[in-house]
Amino acid sequence: MCGIVGYVGQKKALPILLNSLKALEYRGYDSAGIAYIKDKDIHIIKKQGKIKNLEQSLSIDEDTYMGIGHTRWATHGIPNEINAHPHKVGKITLVHNGIIENYEELRQELVKDGYTFKGETDTEVVAALIDKIYQKKHDMLKTLDKVTNKLEGTYAFGIICEDYPDTIYAIRKDSPLIIGVKDKDYFIASDVPAILNYTREYYLLEQGEVAVLNNTCTFYMKGQEINKELKSFEGDSSSVSKNGYDHFMMKEMMEEPDVLHKTVHHMKEESFTFMNYQSIDIVACGSAYHTGLVGKYLIEQYADIPVNVEVASEYRYKKFFPKKNHLVIVISQSGETADTLAALKLAKENNLDTLGIVNVKESSIAREADRVIYTMAGPEIAVATTKAYLAQVTTLSLLALKTAYEKNLMKKDEYEEILHSFDVGAVKIGKLLNKDYEKQAKKIYKKNDLFYLGRGLDYALAMEGSLKLKEISYLHSEAYASGELKHGTISLVEDGTPVISVMIDDHIRSKSVSNNKEVRARGGYVIAISNTELPNDSYDDLILIPQINDFVNPIMALIPMQMISYYVAKMRGCDIDKPKNLAKSVTVE
Ligand code: F6R
Repeated sequence: MCGIVGYVGQKKALPILLNSLKALEYRGYDSAGIAYIKDKDIHIIKKQGKIKNLEQSLSIDEDTYMGIGHTRWATHGIPNEINAHPHKVGKITLVHNGIIENYEELRQELVKDGYTFKGETDTEVVAALIDKIYQKKHDMLKTLDKVTNKLEGTYAFGIICEDYPDTIYAIRKDSPLIIGVKDKDYFIASDVPAILNYTREYYLLEQGEVAVLNNTCTFYMKGQEINKELKSFEGDSSSVSKNGYDHFMMKEMMEEPDVLHKTVHHMKEESFTFMNYQSIDIVACGSAYHTGLVGKYLIEQYADIPVNVEVASEYRYKKFFPKKNHLVIVISQSGETADTLAALKLAKENNLDTLGIVNVKESSIAREADRVIYTMAGPEIAVATTKAYLAQVTTLSLLALKTAYEKNLMKKDEYEEILHSFDVGAVKIGKLLNKDYEKQAKKIYKKNDLFYLGRGLDYALAMEGSLKLKEISYLHSEAYASGELKHGTISLVEDGTPVISVMIDDHIRSKSVSNNKEVRARGGYVIAISNTELPNDSYDDLILIPQINDFVNPIMALIPMQMISYYVAKMRGCDIDKPKNLAKSVTVE
């Protein structure tokens, strides 16, 4: 989703702004732009498409020491040059991440005041609003305080006012923004990777605060100067480079054994369990929602607690039935997903206990939840989640396991054996990652449609496999409960239709065997992912994965699904790390 960068300091600004924008490319975007000050004049350059288009139109060595930049993921208005940020109205130039909900109302008022608009964005309206208020107050701090009272929706803004050509102002509400610091150089950014080439030290801008960056960096709250705690990024900065791999996605999959180790180690130290709860809602979006489905199976089966899993965009608008001893778990890699954050707030408003399972430290969800368990995936750059999904699944599996033990539903020996088996799993996924999946990908990549099948736990996994494939390869794929296929959809199976059948659930494998046969009888080409040998007539290709136990088997199964998706996307010539129209951090609803 939209990415904001800004720089003011001692160095030439354009190379820094461009590098920082490139570091945010993973968030997804369809146009990019930069505004910089040279000889007190503002210059704005915007281009549709990739950052390289913008780069080609800049003279990189320009004598400028401050500017703001933006990658735009279109919401209001098509992705063209006019709608691209930065937007300038009167004395104000700004970049924005988020959505202003009352922009239409504000636009009408501003039109009455004589403002005209070139594009269709909510951002241009905010630029005009700030200009209008500034023309009266001639004071940026007072202006920004007033502006925030008038805006409904979510935002992070980087702002330049023509009267202060050496200053960047920044404010935010519900969209992330950090302020990086290195000696006399100051940065603004939507996310830490944007500044890591320059500094690891940063401030987290909070709601209602105004950051003023020029030859120093000052923070204000309601007009009063405030002190803030300087934070330091503790991660490994190699996580934001490809380390020799062609794609971040491949690099991140190769990190999965290590992520599994780290997650297990982290969870061994974690004291939280579901012991005190009689029911649980798991709320999330996309892959994180699929994690919830795997978690549901394990928590219900082993910890004996009923679990309701819902996508956050639905959950946040439906009737709420607060219950006693009820826990709401929100799962999010980015910790910034707008719908998940709103669901969390709703749960809190209803006085329910909340747990966030989050990858990005100090993200909005991490800070908002009553309790947070961090997943140990490290920064994930590829838009399609792989290692963070693995870490989420592992975290929920371990919570189910620990609760089962604490509730005396599992003996100590068994508990310890399963706990140890996660480490065995880490070694085994290392081997699985090195198997050849190009053979299966070759069978798939020229097709237009594919089915993923599974029952129970296998269905939860199939949903993730299907999402992974379609989002990066643009090959249409549908996940189906194996037993449901014959109720309509099997009519779509024809000669050579690829069908990936996930079959790791021992209790119902024989049923899936029959369903595979039904598909094959209609010409479907069945690739089975199983942890045991299968009858020869129930598959065309069998990917055998290790059989460990119900807690670790799901982690094994996701490796071939992710790998097949990667190779299919590669063979189809897709932009694997940055699939079209998608964003890594979905900060709008
Ligand atoms: C798919 C994918 C998305 C995210 C979803 C939620 O590969 O990455 O479906 O899982 O957008 O994002 P987070 O986990 O950041 O809340």
